Amino acid sequence: GKGTYDHFMLKEIHEQPTSLSQAIEGRIDPAGGRIALADFEPGTFADVDSVQFVACGTSYHAALYGSLALNQAGVQSTALLANEYSVSAPPIDDDTLVIAVTQSGETADTLTALRRAAREGAATLTLTNVVGSTAAREADDALFIRAGPEIGVAATKTFSSQAVMLTLLAQRIAADLRGEPPADLEALLPELESMPAAIDDVLAGSAAKTVARRYSDSEAYFFIGRGLGYPVALEGALKFKEITYEHAEGFASGELKHGPLALVTPETPVFAIFTGQEDEKTLKNAEEAQTRGAPVIAVCPDDHPAVEVADDHLPIPDTEPDLAGLLANVQLQLVSYHAADLLGRPIDKPRNLAKSVTVE
Ligand code: F6R
Repeated sequence: GKGTYDHFMLKEIHEQPTSLSQAIEGRIDPAGGRIALADFEPGTFADVDSVQFVACGTSYHAALYGSLALNQAGVQSTALLANEYSVSAPPIDDDTLVIAVTQSGETADTLTALRRAAREGAATLTLTNVVGSTAAREADDALFIRAGPEIGVAATKTFSSQAVMLTLLAQRIAADLRGEPPADLEALLPELESMPAAIDDVLAGSAAKTVARRYSDSEAYFFIGRGLGYPVALEGALKFKEITYEHAEGFASGELKHGPLALVTPETPVFAIFTGQEDEKTLKNAEEAQTRGAPVIAVCPDDHPAVEVADDHLPIPDTEPDLAGLLANVQLQLVSYHAADLLGRPIDKPRNLAKSVTVE
């Protein structure tokens, strides 16, 4: 049941400290500075020369997160929409690893992409929440996010668990290709271990409801981020449009001035996500929107320079750039939830949407 929460979505947002603990349990060894993924011992990915992710919707945003993390770790990788894959898959060879990211493991588009990849000779791996799902059974290997059942149609806790598992997997793949652990692993693992506590902090002190109310009369809602903040911006906008039915768009911060800026007015609040990767540029982009009258809501730590500039602030604890976006995402989940609640939307079952999309 929903327990004391009005909606499953809110309950599932609040479950993230637990679901993330479950995801990383026994899979990291911060003291030893190692990743301890059973079934994916060091060397598993030594022959992989490129990685393709296939996924849809929120899982695609997690896949993009993983793919960018791999690129940043020096590994050739692309995230592809599974529903585009049959028309325009990049070349596959024996050393291509294709990773399907799918909460349910039953999304038809993703299964079709996974089958195509296997047919073309790729090694396949499924990252899913559902043990025994079709995608888990059909891939060469499966990795489970252990988030527990997600009832709300809008994916919340499964996104954060997917992104965290892909962060770990990216580090493992990069280490295998280089033959040595990435230099920043020692900094990353303790931060990963403290993610559940950091999410608790976000949940306890969130101003998301106030922010949602303040901007509830807006025409459209924009989300910008750079690097690993970019998939989070896309996800922030998808969640917002799904459950509020309001117009929302996510952009790479630097793209704003290449067209979307024409949409910016005092009626279009801009949520700016700061992850510690070229934040000064993202802040300039946010200021470009502010100059056109748009209110800027900065999602960043308390001591961040963006706080001085922004009209509103949704705080996140200070952490590694690999993880900051996931804390920002929790704030944005709460903003979407409260905005939808103010509008009286059926949050757990948005119109026209199904939890699992089993047709192409
Ligand atoms: C959005 C949402 C959908 C799913 C998508 C893929 O909140 O839930 O976009 O992420 O339909 O579903 P899975 O992950 O089951 O393949």
